[in-house]
Amino acid sequence: MNQNEMKKAVAEAALDYVEAGTIIGVGTGSTANLFIDALADIKHKIDGTVASSVASAKRLESHGIEVFELNMVNEISVYIDGADETTKYLQLIKGGGGALTREKIVAAASRKFVCIADESKLVDILGAFPLPIEVIPMARSYVARELVKLGGEPVLREGFTTDNGNVILDIHGLQIMEPTKLEAQLNNIAGVVTNGLFAIRPADVLLLGTSEGVKTLA
Ligand code: A5P
Repeated sequence: MNQNEMKKAVAEAALDYVEAGTIIGVGTGSTANLFIDALADIKHKIDGTVASSVASAKRLESHGIEVFELNMVNEISVYIDGADETTKYLQLIKGGGGALTREKIVAAASRKFVCIADESKLVDILGAFPLPIEVIPMARSYVARELVKLGGEPVLREGFTTDNGNVILDIHGLQIMEPTKLEAQLNNIAGVVTNGLFAIRPADVLLLGTSEGVKTLA
């Protein structure tokens, strides 16, 4: 199985977690896109979706799947999304596609978070993938200086604006030994909107695509 086939396999396996007659939270990225395409086959079974990005909302709508504003919805049964890195404890780095803030909000508002990823995303220690931080534009330089004090090398994602009108700093050179502690610390820097660590609220289930098939970690 190549990487794309592994992504497709986990995207299809995630359909088992879709509860009939409920609203589904949908993530962003190439693996989430494959999930959206698979969801189209069972769209009549669900009440609709909440999307974590404008791009995912457009893809869902192109399949005729209803997309609701989060404020219009009382409960999301499950949130299904990819990741840039995951540990076996299901703590993640996300935000490679820049949608981290809405992803964190929709994950928080969902009863269950199912992460779908191919085996290249599984790591022992988070941080080889640069950690994305969404920042209010006027705070960019201040936040960058604070990140250097924490031992990182922040790099501005050039030419990129988030769906919320903010910028992204990608922190290179971190070896994240205490993900929950760093997540909280980063959230406390004035001007930081969100950081890409999903550790305080990790995934509940990881569907990992491997050459031997889909493995379920929970
Ligand atoms: C989007 O902002 C990210 O959090 C994605 O979930 C992540 O980048 C995974 O993307 P792929 O499925 O394309 O690897």
